Amino acid sequence: MKTGIIGAGSMGTGIAQLAAFHGHKVVILDRSPEAIQRSKNSLLKILNRMAEKGKISDADAKAIFGRIHFVEKIASFSDCELVIEAIIEDEGIKKDLFRELETVVSDKCILATNTSSLSVSSLASACKNPGRFIGLHFFNPPFLMKLVEVIPALQTDEEVTKTSTSWIEGMGHMPVKAKDTPGFIVNRIARPFYGEALRILDEGLADAATIDWAMTEIGGFRMGPFTLMDYIGNDVNFTVTETVYNAFFQDPRYKPSFTQQRLALAGFLGRKSGRGYYDYRDGAQNPEPDKNREKGEYIFNRILTMLINEAADALHFNVANRDDIDTAMKYGVNYPKGLLKWADEIGIATCVKNMDELTDLYREDRYRCSPLLRNMTTENKTFYGD
Ligand SMILES: NC(=O)c1ccc[n+]([C@@H]2O[C@H](COP(=O)([O-])OP(=O)(O)OC[C@H]3O[C@@H](n4cnc5c(N)ncnc54)[C@H](O)[C@@H]3O)[C@@H](O)[C@H]2O)c1
Repeated sequence: MKTGIIGAGSMGTGIAQLAAFHGHKVVILDRSPEAIQRSKNSLLKILNRMAEKGKISDADAKAIFGRIHFVEKIASFSDCELVIEAIIEDEGIKKDLFRELETVVSDKCILATNTSSLSVSSLASACKNPGRFIGLHFFNPPFLMKLVEVIPALQTDEEVTKTSTSWIEGMGHMPVKAKDTPGFIVNRIARPFYGEALRILDEGLADAATIDWAMTEIGGFRMGPFTLMDYIGNDVNFTVTETVYNAFFQDPRYKPSFTQQRLALAGFLGRKSGRGYYDYRDGAQNPEPDKNREKGEYIFNRILTMLINEAADALHFNVANRDDIDTAMKYGVNYPKGLLKWADEIGIATCVKNMDELTDLYREDRYRCSPLLRNMTTENKTFYGD
């Protein structure tokens, strides 16, 4: 399938690598010559490293790179069967691009966006033929992260969803289908991992090192929330939270934290700036966690319950089906288990009790229990039971 990619930044370059690796011919365009050069350099470096490690032969590396054509004019996309946009996250600029693309591609060409936060249906509305439009949300780095959220717009033709899903499966990646709602699956359900950790920190219940310890050592997560936020960047992570919060019309569940906002404003962005929740400068001493087991269990249970509640609510509102929700969290953010499976293990009644305890304490809408969990308790149901 001849694939066009617009935007040769980290996502566009990674998607090009993936498609070319699986035999697709790729054309890629960026408005910045520097970005093109960086993209070429990074592809060569990655492919050479794969060859050095014996994962592919030198000939394969050459052939993969040979399938990627860097172009300067949008007219070069005329015979593409699929074009994926991975440019700057700006609705107006993306819409202009799709309007222009439609003047050069064939009627059958599928147009896709890799947007993380914009409405796919809104972007589709810029097209004369919105039925050909779809969201294909890859994770970073796209070659290694196997999950792809497939987000049909309200306007998308069923055939376009099917063809896009097969294209992803053909490359050994895992498509999950998500409704066009803020944050899709992963960026919505993962919010409490950061938000509830920040809330616990803000209330002075524990420091960042202790919360991270609880989530990794007791919870089995690969990275604690503060280590992860420092890795993602407090500016980027804050913006995602703020965008989801506003997209949900200020639902208090997604309320951003002043602590993270202040860190971002101060330039304490995390690893990339040398300082965030932790200090990464040479010789810096970071606090040790307080390894009090009881406190750790409280922190882990509270954050996990909030994550489960969010996953259950996403199912309740048909954002995705049960299996896709669990797959998305395992492969999009490497959670140790699917959250709905985890809910069954803990017991749905326990999840409801934990939520109700938080509601009783705080009396905030943020802690409302998903009606799905409550109904399941009444009916004695589990997510995976017959
Ligand atoms: N970085 C991530 O983790 C991630 C994950 C999933 C989705 N996304 C989404 O993917 C998209 C790209 O993100 P990124 O991280 O690769 O960004 P990036 O900044 O690394 O790359 C964007 C590239 O697009 C180019 N560009 C901007 N406007 C253009 C235009 N009009 N025409 C052609 N090229 C243009 C820029 O020069 C730049 O090279 C965004 O929509 C983002 O929300 C990002």
